[in-house]
Amino acid sequence: MKVLAFAASNHKASINKQLVTHATDLLAANASAEVEILDLNDFEMPIYSIDREVADGIPEPAKAFFSKIGEADAVVIGFGEYNGNYSVAYKNVFDWASRIDQKVYQNKPAVLLATSPGPGGAQSVLGIAAGSAPYFAMDVKAQLSVPNFGDNFDAEKGELTNADLAAQLKDALATLTA
Ligand SMILES: Cc1cc2nc3c(=O)[nH]c(=O)nc-3n(C[C@H](O)[C@H](O)[C@H](O)COP(=O)(O)O)c2cc1C
Repeated sequence: MKVLAFAASNHKASINKQLVTHATDLLAANASAEVEILDLNDFEMPIYSIDREVADGIPEPAKAFFSKIGEADAVVIGFGEYNGNYSVAYKNVFDWASRIDQKVYQNKPAVLLATSPGPGGAQSVLGIAAGSAPYFAMDVKAQLSVPNFGDNFDAEKGELTNADLAAQLKDALATLTA
């Protein structure tokens, strides 16, 4: 199983990237998944505009992002929450990719994760992603919000320390191999 994973964030020390990396470590160990983790910084493009699209077409990074999803058997995404919503970096890649085909996620099974430093656990952006998934052909198998990242994740070991959340993450990931 080829798993494509990324944090929907361009933060170099992204806590969602740490969470996604932990999740894919588990998938690689327990399900022999072949994992590729993307960095959205490698997909930086001009801010989407209809005018730019008409003038110059769709930038190569958007095509590369869309192709990466197409080549995967499953996707794992960690959503950073910025003012209750997607990071600008993700929204830009997503908007450009949606101009290739609105079915950005190409019916791939997906596990959606989200974390933030506070008690909200990025539930707002997670709800936006999960709620709109059918419009973008994303087959959401499971979702998990991790609140209070600093309290529940050991950054040095790169793993969840909260047993309940760790069990929920395992259950969420198991939906990709069931
Ligand atoms: C502009 C800005 C807005 C933010 N808005 C929220 C928010 O609405 N909810 C939240 O839980 N955290 C919010 N945060 C804190 C982020 O969750 C935190 O910076 C986190 O590290 C972002 O995830 P990432 O590291 O994966 O990018 C915000 C941070 C910034 C810089």
